[in-house]
Amino acid sequence: MAALASPRNTTRHISADAAGIAEAARLLAEGHLVAFPTETVYGLGADARSAEAVAGIYRAKGRPSSNPLIVHVADLRMAETFGIFDAAMRRLAERFWPGPLTMVVPLREASALAPAITAGRETVGLRVPASPVALALIRQAGCPVAAPSANPSGRVSPTEAEHVLDPDTGLGGRIAAVLDGGPTPVGLESTIVAAGRGASASLRLLRPGGLSLEALEAAAGALLAQPTAPVETAAPEGLEAPGMMASHYAPRARLRLAAAAPEPGEAWLGFGADPAAAADAIAARNLSEAADLDEAAQRLFSSLRALDTDLGEGGTIAVAPIPDRGLGRAINDRLARAAAPRS
Ligand code: TXA
Ligand code: MG
Repeated sequence: MAALASPRNTTRHISADAAGIAEAARLLAEGHLVAFPTETVYGLGADARSAEAVAGIYRAKGRPSSNPLIVHVADLRMAETFGIFDAAMRRLAERFWPGPLTMVVPLREASALAPAITAGRETVGLRVPASPVALALIRQAGCPVAAPSANPSGRVSPTEAEHVLDPDTGLGGRIAAVLDGGPTPVGLESTIVAAGRGASASLRLLRPGGLSLEALEAAAGALLAQPTAPVETAAPEGLEAPGMMASHYAPRARLRLAAAAPEPGEAWLGFGADPAAAADAIAARNLSEAADLDEAAQRLFSSLRALDTDLGEGGTIAVAPIPDRGLGRAINDRLARAAAPRS
């Protein structure tokens, strides 16, 4: 019997051993799209110097061309060939790279990056990921690797290769390969900071993420200027981090935040001890029975996906309150966006 070509079958599933990393690096260097694990979430990688490969990222994700991409590099030296680091930004890079921190700095003139990377901006977002698989891939590919999260635009970021491979909710059939390095340990996208403008201007937080604001501010020796509340669906061009529109990171289900307990018919996403009513919820998960915010971050996106699948169309997930400190701040940011009205 002839097998039907399912879209998913056209995306190769490669395990992240030495041979697999070498194969993925070869595909990247040849201009193909390859999803790969970082310590935060899976990224959709392409050679950042190739206009064609970078255009492929926007196409595969259905991403607006106004939303710039993060460039992943192997070390600070490589980052400095693309962006200009002042003393304060260099100190932070030395302290937190490799790690879940993206730094938005002025773009070096005549950098080799494809123009679509920065979406017409004069700045570039750079990151040295901590995942050994990601670092080996970048080194072996021998190029800067553009990588947004490997999900269709506006959807929940993938923390496992299976999420990327799914032909309906992921990118299965639309990209060359996924390098499978298992579940990502941090589970939330990187924290993004932008250099201050002018001598006395302070660093600005563009997105809370996998590196806590407390750790950043302690290292910077100053408070960071905060983003205002999630920006309503303004024209993306008007936003400093254009991906940070109010409705983003969205599962299909509706979310009801800071809930004491699930109402009849709702699914439940708990944190810490569950209320008695959780036992009657139509589906239930707990981000961390021990009320550990790092564990909750690691489980957030896979839990939202699982509850979404259990609920089907049109359901509601009631979510327990999450403390707004450490990674709880980024968890609450993603939950608020997932709960925002959809346009
Ligand atoms: O952890 C992460 O950051 C993951 C992994 C794969 O590294 N990547 C990721 O990329 O989350 P993405 O594209 O899903 O989110 C990147 C965010 C977007 O909101 C984008 O607008 C912003 O970074 N961004 C990128 N370059 C920028 C720039 N030059 N200025 C301001 N914002 C920028
Ligand atoms: Mg994303």
